[in-house]
Amino acid sequence: MGKLLGLLGHPVGHSMSPLMHNDAFQALGLPFDYHAFDVMPDQLETAIKGMKVLGFAGFNVTIPHKVAIMPFLDAIDQEARDIGAVNTVVEENGKYIGYNTDGKGFVSSLQKICDLNGKNTLIIGSGGAARGIFIALNKTAIASCDIANRTVAKAKSLIEEYSPKISSKSLSLQEAEEQLSNYDIVINTTSVGMSPHTNDIPLSLHELQPSTVVCDIIYNPLKTKWLEIAEEKGAIIHNGVGMFVGQGALAFEKWTGRQPDYRRMETVVLKKLGG
Ligand code: ATR
Repeated sequence: MGKLLGLLGHPVGHSMSPLMHNDAFQALGLPFDYHAFDVMPDQLETAIKGMKVLGFAGFNVTIPHKVAIMPFLDAIDQEARDIGAVNTVVEENGKYIGYNTDGKGFVSSLQKICDLNGKNTLIIGSGGAARGIFIALNKTAIASCDIANRTVAKAKSLIEEYSPKISSKSLSLQEAEEQLSNYDIVINTTSVGMSPHTNDIPLSLHELQPSTVVCDIIYNPLKTKWLEIAEEKGAIIHNGVGMFVGQGALAFEKWTGRQPDYRRMETVVLKKLGG
């Protein structure tokens, strides 16, 4: 048996992480085994203690444990603290250290399809995913990053709390629709358009300029209605597989010290999703 890694979540039955990681370990001949564990919220602390006793080298954390896990870890990296959530844990000298690779993973997937230098970006949504992406984008060479949200006050407080280095303003969804032509990159982080509500869109694309990069973090469906409309209007689209594979690739690097074959991970996930 190889070194143990895992995923803690509830539910985890449909997770693609075991398939994606085990294939990537095999491809590099690395001695790791990744398993998904369905853990109820009231059992989370016990599960982590159990993993430590069993010698797990690390694990991923998903819904609903990303915030709840924080008090049970030995230390938390600064970016995960800023985001207020952990999705990756790494065993370092007998201690479990929490990281968050979601936002950085999304940004690294985005950098594979476009240059971020001097770009004006718009994030739609102000939840945990938006927070991670906002913080990660702030560490790149983009020119600005605005946030539009149904509840504008939440977008405003996200910006104020983080005090970004780059120019940032909060907008209502209607303002964002009207000003859409100002942006080079637009990112949906809300769940609007996710199965089974596949006809919903987070924002009208009437003002969209062709060649804008339009991103969705939803991967079920693989191409949301919103991305479909964007593509018809001549935009470059980036689906939710980017964020999923990006966060996984960064976690892989932290556990193994090796870089996985990103394209191979992406192909495994796309195949599983029928893409
Ligand atoms: P996550 O942690 O996955 O990002 P979340 O914290 O529940 O999820 O955040 C969901 C985001 O989607 C929020 O920005 C939410 O808007 P509000 O802050 O106004 O609640 C947004 N959202 C969810 N459903 C929405 C809908 N039907 N229309 C517009 N925005 C929606």
